Amino acid sequence: MNVKTIRKDTPGCEGRLFFNSAGSSLPPKVVVDSMINFLKEEEIYGGYEMEVRRAADLWDFYLETARLLQTNARNIAFAYNATDAFARALSAIPFNSGDSILTTNDDYISNQINFLSLQKRFGLCVLRVPNLSSGDLDLEQMEALLKVHHPKLVAVTHIPTNSGLVQDVEAVGRLCRQFSTFYLVDGCQSLGQMELDVEKIGCDFLSATGRKFLRGPRGTGFLFVSDRILEEGLEPLFIDMRGATWKSANEYVHEKDARRFELWENPYSAMVGLKEAIRYANELGMGQIVEYNRTLIDALRKGLGSLPGIELLDRGSAKSNIVTFHKEGMPLSVLQEALTAQNVVFSVSKLENARIDFENKGVEGAVRVSPHYFNTIEEAENLMGIIASI
Ligand SMILES: Cc1ncc(COP(=O)(O)O)c(C=O)c1O
Repeated sequence: MNVKTIRKDTPGCEGRLFFNSAGSSLPPKVVVDSMINFLKEEEIYGGYEMEVRRAADLWDFYLETARLLQTNARNIAFAYNATDAFARALSAIPFNSGDSILTTNDDYISNQINFLSLQKRFGLCVLRVPNLSSGDLDLEQMEALLKVHHPKLVAVTHIPTNSGLVQDVEAVGRLCRQFSTFYLVDGCQSLGQMELDVEKIGCDFLSATGRKFLRGPRGTGFLFVSDRILEEGLEPLFIDMRGATWKSANEYVHEKDARRFELWENPYSAMVGLKEAIRYANELGMGQIVEYNRTLIDALRKGLGSLPGIELLDRGSAKSNIVTFHKEGMPLSVLQEALTAQNVVFSVSKLENARIDFENKGVEGAVRVSPHYFNTIEEAENLMGIIASI
């Protein structure tokens, strides 16, 4: 990892302490340039012609994404964000009234709201796997719930938005195969910071966003769709003329590959930007990224954990690049203002973003810092110095 070169490629990392890759990261220059160039050409040729002129470039989006996930281009669908990808997958599950969805206490807020909406409209039942005292999923309890309720779908957020927990999606995948349950993984926070192999995870779907640890543009995301789903003929509820061909007045036929999960109109300049971001990660190599990040995050966790009054809130036997904490006796808003005044870029997760987790922890929320491989140990030390002085 040549961090000097990486920082040169990342104009936004100078002059501030940027620790918000779990929110919306800093894109490499090549990502922004590719989008500007695309738009400049679109200005001349118009959108439809550009789509044809750049067909090979756009196809590379599928190839690079497949390479990242260790799968095939036919299994990738472009989406507008992770929630959009997630909802398209959810809409393909052949639920009947009374079916249940098994999820976790740490699943993303919008996923939880989606499940509750399905419960309200179609009478589905939402079940959640309990956690062990360590914060990890209680897999024995999960197995028991699978045995008793035979949920139609298991949905697990790999890394939550509001804590450093990493949920064991591979172990869950094994259980899902054993009980022949559809399995949807939210990989929004894990892609770009962890090596993911969708075969090993054993999921049917995996949803992701572009702008976080993948360092892509806003308004982009994608969905992995397994061969099993494609072969079983599952399709999104709201399928359009991209995903299907209208064969006769009362008949359509869906696409063979994951394109059946896409919509016809797409922001192609952003898609090219996302492709460049994923290519950037692929070229660096996820193995190297993970290794570098491990050193960075270990130093940060250790340092922050030793500061008086700072309580780290992350649980679980495996932890990610997201560090959450609060300062005892200090309102979150005060800590937030003090950090912002020192030019630190970070996020705050509030109680309403993580009802179950934060209510269990008894906190009103947490400061979330999320370093990535363009950050340096010196920056982590500066951050710790600032936090110590508040
Ligand atoms: C774990 C997780 N899933 C899903 C999402 C939603 O992503 P998007 O805003 O791209 O829809 C987020 C966003 O923070 C997230 O952290």
